[in-house]
Amino acid sequence: MTPKKVSESRTTMTQMVMPNDTNPLGNLMGGNLLRWMDIAASICAGKHSASYVVTASVDHVSFKRPIHMGEVVTMVASITRAFTTSMEIYVEVFAADIKGGHTRRCNHAYYTFVALDDDRNKPVPVPQVLPLTADEDKHYAEAQTRRELRLMLSGRINAQQAEQIRKYLTEAVQDAGAGNA
Ligand SMILES: CC(C)(COP(=O)(O)OP(=O)(O)OC[C@H]1O[C@@H](n2cnc3c(N)ncnc32)[C@H](O)[C@@H]1OP(=O)(O)O)[C@@H](O)C(=O)NCCC(=O)NCCS
Repeated sequence: MTPKKVSESRTTMTQMVMPNDTNPLGNLMGGNLLRWMDIAASICAGKHSASYVVTASVDHVSFKRPIHMGEVVTMVASITRAFTTSMEIYVEVFAADIKGGHTRRCNHAYYTFVALDDDRNKPVPVPQVLPLTADEDKHYAEAQTRRELRLMLSGRINAQQAEQIRKYLTEAVQDAGAGNA
C-alpha cells in the first residue's frame, strides 16, 4: 500500500454550541465535545484507510477551559501514525465567539481507530503515514511510545514488550543521576 500524507486525510469540523449541548452552567458538556471529537477523528481515519473504522481507545483528555453556549467549536483531526490495522489520530479543539473573536485552543486528545473489512468486520491493514513537516515528524516518532503506553494500560502488552517506554525511563533515570552527580 502506498503511504499517504497527513494532509490527505486532515479533517476540520465545526459546530455551534446550542442549548441542548450544555450543562446547567451554560457551558458545553464534556461528553458532547468527546462525541464531536470522535466524529472528526473517525472521518480522518476513514479517509486515510479508505475503510470503515471503529474507535479502539481514547487517551487522557482534560478540559482546560470552558466553552460557552453560542460559541463556535472547531475540531481539527490529523493522523499521526498508522501501525498494522490501527491508526492514531490527534484531535485539537479550538473555540471562538460567533464573530471569530476570543479564539483559544481548548484541549486535545489522541484517538485510536481500527480499520475493518467490509464483509466480516475484521481488522484490515492500513496505509502507512508519510510525515513531511517537523511537527508531523515529532508526532510520528512519539506515537510509538503512546501506543505502548495504551496497550500496556489496556493489558494487551506487558512491561517487557514496551521497549520504547523502557528506553525512555532508562534515559530519564540516567539524566536524573547525571543531574545529581
Ligand atoms: C477495536 C477492535 C476491532 C480490536 O479487535 P481485536 O480482535 O482486539 O483485534 P486485534 O487484536 O487484531 O487488534 C487490532 C488492532 O487494534 C489495536 N487495539 C486493540 N485494542 C486496543 C486498545 N485498547 N487501544 C489501542 N489499540 C488497540 C491493536 O493494537 C491492533 O492494532 P495493530 O493491528 O495496528 O497492531 C475490537 O476490540 C472492537 O471491535 N471493539 C469495539 C469497537 C467499538 O465498538 N468502538 C466504539 C465504542 S462505543
